[in-house]
Amino acid sequence: MTTTTILGIESSCDDTAAAVLRGQAGAAHVVSSVVMGQTALHADFGGVVPEIAARAHAEKLDHAVAEALAKAEVTLDDIDAVAVTAGPGLIGGVVSGVMCAKGIAVARGLPLYGVNHLAGHALTPRLTDGVPFPYLMLLVSGGHCQFLIVSGPDDFRRLGGTIDDAPGEAFDKIARLIALPQPGGPAIEERAKAGDSRRFKLPRPLLDREGCDMSFSGLKTAVLRQRDHLIIDGTLRAQDQADLAAGFQAAVVDVLAEKTRRALAVYAQLTDTRTLCVAGGVAANMAIRTGLTTVAEEFDTGFIAPPLALCTDNAAMIAYAALEQMGSRAPDDMTLSARPRWPLDQTAQPMLGSGKKGAKA
Ligand code: KG4
Ligand code: ZN
Repeated sequence: MTTTTILGIESSCDDTAAAVLRGQAGAAHVVSSVVMGQTALHADFGGVVPEIAARAHAEKLDHAVAEALAKAEVTLDDIDAVAVTAGPGLIGGVVSGVMCAKGIAVARGLPLYGVNHLAGHALTPRLTDGVPFPYLMLLVSGGHCQFLIVSGPDDFRRLGGTIDDAPGEAFDKIARLIALPQPGGPAIEERAKAGDSRRFKLPRPLLDREGCDMSFSGLKTAVLRQRDHLIIDGTLRAQDQADLAAGFQAAVVDVLAEKTRRALAVYAQLTDTRTLCVAGGVAANMAIRTGLTTVAEEFDTGFIAPPLALCTDNAAMIAYAALEQMGSRAPDDMTLSARPRWPLDQTAQPMLGSGKKGAKA
């Protein structure tokens, strides 16, 4: 097998990223990975503003690529192929990345691969841990929430996902409701350490419904109602804030754990050697990791959580997905276009609602 050096580009949400990856499917290493965030640009707006994101990507992409090449101590002469996120995501950002990748590919005569962002997340456990197919992936971030059985580089079966907010989105919104800073996930996890998770009765949405679909927006409304009873003179006491944070986090853990049990029951019918993998920023949460580890043990299943830098949005995963797929697909040409919605499992029912990254995939 030949060793390929591939440049990856990612700009589908609020991170401008470029990476150089070297190797082959199942045996590649990240030579460099640069992620330029935009948190400060969106801080005053309470969420990612698509137009601001697109403009920032257009400004930063060249710099991210130059920095990734420099850190890898290579030039474009050493690159064999270019991979870019072609969707799903905020369309302005995806267009910026696709245009940048097309420019490099056409100028240098390199093959171009448009990659599904979710495939990048879903294939990461093979990059980091060489996990064999098929494995079960729980993707939980600010923009995504779904269970996938990953059986090949382009073979994904979705077992279920959120019908409204993604969990990270819920963490961020709840943090705003209880006056904690953004991003909400780490702030809630920290505050919850001082809280009593049993003080408030919060719902565990959709556990009474069969299957692996999830919902987090009702939980948000329930926290809002409790908060409104507790506010005195416009402020929330620190203990009330901690108890709400702990109660909310415990509810998310319970929902993810129970839905993972159901997904594992489906997956267990397919194979004897089993691995549960998790990706996305929410996978940083220790309470969630502990809950998933326990469930994996119940099912005699391995548990893999890639290092955080490769769990959250990055371009190494995009380069790696192209590396996995290039054996079985032709490169794209200059007609490659950005797709705001691009479900991994084309046969699954479309998800309802819209997340931080636009329409749910
Ligand atoms: O994967 P990611 O970096 O970006 C996308 O959304 O694609 O995930 C960011 C999300 C944010 O919503 C953030 O609040 C959440 O991940 N997050 C966490 C934690 N760290 C980050 N959620 C819960 N607990 C955490 N420790
Ligand atoms: Zn992502």
